Amino acid sequence: MSARTVRASAPGKINVSMHVGPLRADGYHGVATVYQAVSLIEELTATEADEISVSFSGPIDTSHIPLGDSNLAVRAARAVAAEAGITAGARLEIVKNVPIAGGMGGGSADAAAALVAVDALWETNLGSTTLYRLAAELGADVPFALHGGTAIGLGRGDILTPVLSQGHFEWVLVSSDDGLSTPEVFRRLDQLRDEDPALADAVDEQPQVEAEVLHALRNGDALALAHHIHSDLQEPALSLMPALADALAFGESNGALAGIVSGSGPTLAFLAEDDSAALALVEAFRQTNRNAIRALAPVRGATVH
Ligand code: C5P
Repeated sequence: MSARTVRASAPGKINVSMHVGPLRADGYHGVATVYQAVSLIEELTATEADEISVSFSGPIDTSHIPLGDSNLAVRAARAVAAEAGITAGARLEIVKNVPIAGGMGGGSADAAAALVAVDALWETNLGSTTLYRLAAELGADVPFALHGGTAIGLGRGDILTPVLSQGHFEWVLVSSDDGLSTPEVFRRLDQLRDEDPALADAVDEQPQVEAEVLHALRNGDALALAHHIHSDLQEPALSLMPALADALAFGESNGALAGIVSGSGPTLAFLAEDDSAALALVEAFRQTNRNAIRALAPVRGATVH
């Protein structure tokens, strides 16, 4: 008899709006963010095995991803087994399409796909409330990778409220060869605020999402959304990787409605008016030897196929 297999997928994300409050006692920052799940999808196959293990393949160089106990997909599978009180194994094979350390939640998507895949493989049927709790314990962005679509994230980004969104938005994503560390970008933000009293004064103790962003999403209005996309993490990411500023300017002078650093970067997300503008922008970036890819949003969250 051949070993049982379950296939699952989960999307990468961009943050179309990211307001960051002060550093909290637990080492996290309170945020008010709007996530959109994009059509860069992690595909995972879970096969019954004696142990829990993970391997990666796909169009991205995955040779530097740790495969041991620190791997987020491995931790997700262990969390399901512990929660269900079972000893079970699974071989997790992930086809990686989301840039690594790019600010697009690729590791979180791996974890979300692993949660739903092993829950189905082992027939543990934990239910969505428990899966969301395990997701939040794994990382701030993991619940959104389960959820997908468009959602507001409060708290650490893990307290989700769905957002109505009409039609689809056209994005062009430009990745960098080097990654940025999320904690380092948050630390740099704190440092910039410490150095500049004007920045420190502007910090909102309880950050909020602007109504204009929600209106633009609800109306499927890319032009209006372009006026209001914003990330407090953009300045620290640019200060750690100054070359990003040129790429942002290049995109905006080659037809993008607006560009933003995605999450903590360094991936850049450019909003395009329509598919032909998106394709032209991809072509313009490729001519400068940059890795640009078109993505649609929103798409659904973690799914068992
Ligand atoms: O939860 P996750 O592992 O993705 O977070 C990585 C790090 O990013 C945290 O340890 C923290 O330093 C920083 N972070 C933060 N505030 C958030 C999310 C992440 O300071 N809301």
